[in-house]
Amino acid sequence: MTSKEQHHYEQLCHEIWEHNRKYYVEHQPTISDEQFDHLLKKLEAIEKAHPEWVTPSSPTQRVMESLTSGFKSVPHRVPMLSLANTYSKEEVADFIKRVEKLLGKSAPAFCAELKMDGIAVSITYEKGHFVRGVTRGDGKKGDDITNNLRTIASLPLRLYGDHVPEFLEARGEVYLPHAVFETLNKAREATDEPLWANPRNAAAGSLKLLDPSEVAKRNLAIAFYGIADESSGKIQSQYEIHQFLKKLGLPVVAEYALCHSLEEIWQFVEKIQKLRPKLSYDIDGVVIKADQLSDQKKMGVAGKNPRWAVAYKFAAEQAVTTIHAITVQVGRTGVLTPVAELDPVFLAGSTIARATLHNAEEVERKDIRVGDTVIIEKGGDVIPKVVEVVLDKRPPHTHSWKMPSKCPSCGAHITKVSGEVAVRCPNTTGCPEQLLRRLIYFAGKEAMDIDNMGEKVVEHLVAKGFVAKPSDIFVLTKEQLYQLDGFKDKSVDNLYQSIQKAKEVTLPRFMMALGIKHVGEGISELIANKAGTIAHLRCMTKEELLEIEGIGEKVATAFVEYFADPEHQAEIDRLLKNGVNPQAVEVKQYKDHPFNGKTFVLTGTLHKYTRQSAAALIKERGGKVTDSVSKKTDYLIAGDEAGSKLKKAQELGIPILNEADFEKAIT
Ligand code: IVH
Repeated sequence: MTSKEQHHYEQLCHEIWEHNRKYYVEHQPTISDEQFDHLLKKLEAIEKAHPEWVTPSSPTQRVMESLTSGFKSVPHRVPMLSLANTYSKEEVADFIKRVEKLLGKSAPAFCAELKMDGIAVSITYEKGHFVRGVTRGDGKKGDDITNNLRTIASLPLRLYGDHVPEFLEARGEVYLPHAVFETLNKAREATDEPLWANPRNAAAGSLKLLDPSEVAKRNLAIAFYGIADESSGKIQSQYEIHQFLKKLGLPVVAEYALCHSLEEIWQFVEKIQKLRPKLSYDIDGVVIKADQLSDQKKMGVAGKNPRWAVAYKFAAEQAVTTIHAITVQVGRTGVLTPVAELDPVFLAGSTIARATLHNAEEVERKDIRVGDTVIIEKGGDVIPKVVEVVLDKRPPHTHSWKMPSKCPSCGAHITKVSGEVAVRCPNTTGCPEQLLRRLIYFAGKEAMDIDNMGEKVVEHLVAKGFVAKPSDIFVLTKEQLYQLDGFKDKSVDNLYQSIQKAKEVTLPRFMMALGIKHVGEGISELIANKAGTIAHLRCMTKEELLEIEGIGEKVATAFVEYFADPEHQAEIDRLLKNGVNPQAVEVKQYKDHPFNGKTFVLTGTLHKYTRQSAAALIKERGGKVTDSVSKKTDYLIAGDEAGSKLKKAQELGIPILNEADFEKAIT
């Protein structure tokens, strides 16, 4: 028998679920946020007195302690498919023709709907209670992220209404609204963490967090668009699925429409394209699905994609704004990069105020001027680019832009290296901006990897006059760190410890940190392997270097020139004196490496390795590198923009490694 008080508790739970539904599904709240919080507080008080009444569906149970250190991989009862993409009206027309042919009828019904740009999840309710949530994974099995999904305020923990099914597996997309994305990135900027490129990446990263209380802070959202399977026989169409889910209190995609022809579908596409900039979250297209479930069943699946649906993908989102100035940025090697300073404009999830213009030639080619109205675009990167100038809107009396003849940071006359597009500030030792950029690079991920010492911290250290050159970092005192803005006991301790830890660096990393021209990760490793110690490394001769497989004239010259400079040698002395202790690398003898006896072909562009350095690393491990793909090839290593060799390898069924696979394999 439930007591009167317990009955009251359950009623309160229902009341709160109902307010959640009105807010997140109906978008028509009937009480204020304060009133809602008040109800929640009342519930918490009762639960404190009667913890035995609390169920996992209670509105207070959003954050559950996660006991696992990772996520359990679970198979999908029904596979999670992906969609084939189309990019034009013609391709959509082809899709319709295919459907008509497969079904043997003309003008079947289609359901067109928003394509949410987020992370696909499968959500299970048993007896109306949320019990499980799983990522798409590879479509066959995904990660069980139940406790992270539970934190999503718009995901009901209980289904609503009188016709709650015994079992429901719904499919939807977790996403991050623009406003939340901006707030998250601002916080990351303040603490010097790398920014998320877009809301989708931020959502994906958030779902992977191991601590649900951290996920709760990310304010993710969810929208549903499907069910895993329909066996009740009650639902006939995709259109009805949306209504069915909504009736159960689940938030569904905001726009969907029933269409009977290409023209109707296209009208919907155009409507959504117009709506897109006004939406408070990212979409990347429209999904077009054959509407009748019986039709879907008839058509079935081809590989990972259903034959009954396609995605129409929008082009990269663009915005129009004006350039109020063109500034010049100085990089660590002295290269000058023009940057457009824009009137802030909102684009694909964030406010944009700057865009790189790459180099003077690019500015000239596109004739970009101060005062111009321009179209900007955001690709996959954080940095947006200027696509073109809207010439009709060019104000009178503008001038074409010229790269200044002097460095904006130190005033040195800039130089142009023949054969290069870039222009440089030649003042490598005295230019403040170059020094700052070099310090940022030195402390950064690719080099010494000093935790807690991001761009902002380095800027402060330089501004305070505590650091002028890399070696100064290692004699920083806690007293000095306390003087940095916002630094307290914990942050001072953390930074101090990271600096001490960074002193034990590997020799290749130390070499990277010196910033020698043309010396990337692969080359550093090759040279460090040969040198063994820093003492040997700093006096290597060109002949010695050229003996190393994978090192050519250009690298050897740059290397020797760097160490011939007494100022460079003096700074290395100071670094060593201040405690930096580059670890001699063990020269590994590879006997049973999996590469042993295997034949490789390299193609495309790798980022961390040159062709030669990758080839040398393969040879060290007992492998052989040849030029062309044949049946005898064991592996193809394919970088970006790989062409015909990749195609041939695919045809011959030769295993293909990308750069990340290669990196993993050589360690
Ligand atoms: S249907 C068989 N509908 O797009 C159906 N997917 O590119 C597969 N997506 O993995 C999904 N909005 O993550 C469907 N209205 C929508 C969608 C949608 C976004 C995502 C989903 C899927 C991906 C395929």
